[in-house]
Amino acid sequence: MANVIVVGMQWGDEAKGKVVDYIAQDADFVVRYNGGNNAGHTVVVGDEVYKFHTVPVGALHDNVTAVITDGVVLDPKVFVGEIKGLKERGITADRMKISGNAHVIMPYHRLFDQLEEERKGAKKIGTTGRGIGPCYADKMSRTGIRIADMIDPVRFRDRLRANLELKNEIITKVYGGQPIDEAEVYAEYSQYAAAIAPYVAETYSILYRASFDCANIVFEGAHATLLDIDFGTYPFVTSSHCVAGGATIGTGVAPTMIDRVIGVAKAYTTRVGAGPCPTEQTNEIGDKIRERGNEYGTTTGRPRRCGWFDAAAVRYSAQVNGATCIAVTLLDVLSTFDTVKICTGYTVDGKEIRDFPADAYILEKAEPIYEEMPGWHEDISEIKSFEDLPDNAKSYVARIAELVETPICMVGVGPRRDQSIVLDPEMLSK
Ligand code: IMP
Repeated sequence: MANVIVVGMQWGDEAKGKVVDYIAQDADFVVRYNGGNNAGHTVVVGDEVYKFHTVPVGALHDNVTAVITDGVVLDPKVFVGEIKGLKERGITADRMKISGNAHVIMPYHRLFDQLEEERKGAKKIGTTGRGIGPCYADKMSRTGIRIADMIDPVRFRDRLRANLELKNEIITKVYGGQPIDEAEVYAEYSQYAAAIAPYVAETYSILYRASFDCANIVFEGAHATLLDIDFGTYPFVTSSHCVAGGATIGTGVAPTMIDRVIGVAKAYTTRVGAGPCPTEQTNEIGDKIRERGNEYGTTTGRPRRCGWFDAAAVRYSAQVNGATCIAVTLLDVLSTFDTVKICTGYTVDGKEIRDFPADAYILEKAEPIYEEMPGWHEDISEIKSFEDLPDNAKSYVARIAELVETPICMVGVGPRRDQSIVLDPEMLSK
């Protein structure tokens, strides 16, 4: 295998978890490098459904060491609960490693996330309410609490006190809320610190050595390119580096050590929360995709906004990520449509454009230009080879590759691990 980054190419929920799980079969390490428990990855193995929020999906495999690195923000309460839940189902994640540099999501981050969304009213971003933005804001302001701080009782008390002095002023004087009690938080989080401390390690060094020993590392991207803090549809984005470059920033593994980037895109488009989504179908087409694809958030349960595949958006993602191939997921959801549409570009203020405008205000005005193709009615969920797919489904996938200017390496036809058609195994892992 090699060092492979798996990255979402749309607005998240592309079934990256399934792709990571598939290639983790041959991996030694699976690494989470960005975001926090705003992510939700679902993996189906036989009849068992696993939902991950913080723990890397690779934890399901005995051969894999799961690693949470510097670029992640970790909610200790959620993490400890997730580990407990996995252990109850016989999955021990004892070998997991966590970087001391990862930032801790504190109760005031969750509170500020919710208060800010309320304050914004109609202009809200539609966050997951998990405290992600405020935690990254503290990181950048250099006031955050890192895992290494939390597991050192003296440092933790000092950092917590310094933070709460200001946060409580804002909570009470700006938002008119109740102050957070330092002693209570300290006592609760000291327990989480004790549970987390055994996992803490110099993750950059472990991964550096592993690369030299030719270990196989999978970098599990969370969220997706169009939610990236820089390359997404700002301000309707999350607060981390979701693009492939985030894997090197968030882990300390140098760009020269990366061999492949697998972009993951659904055969259609979904988006959760606010912000432009040109191909969204607020009609029976969108409803049908939502029901067939069970398009409800893993983390929040919110119904997702659904629409046709946006090739201009995914081409942009292929470019900023340097995708070496694409895994097209959930193709089975499009079965039963008489015709299917692909957006090839947009009309903005009467002018045709081919390239995706990353500026959300321009994208808001963009009218999709569609190409219509014949659909297929067959159930494709148990098909095992690309050749056996209906001709119209094959043409649809081929057209995506052409428009996105990137080869396809995998096609997903159902949620189970074995419902993956691999077109080119070498592209996935060698
Ligand atoms: P936050 O990450 O909770 O701050 O939310 C910011 C925006 O990103 C909102 O529109 C969320 O719905 C969206 N978002 C964050 N993580 C995910 C994800 O994993 N899938 C889909 N949307 C997400």
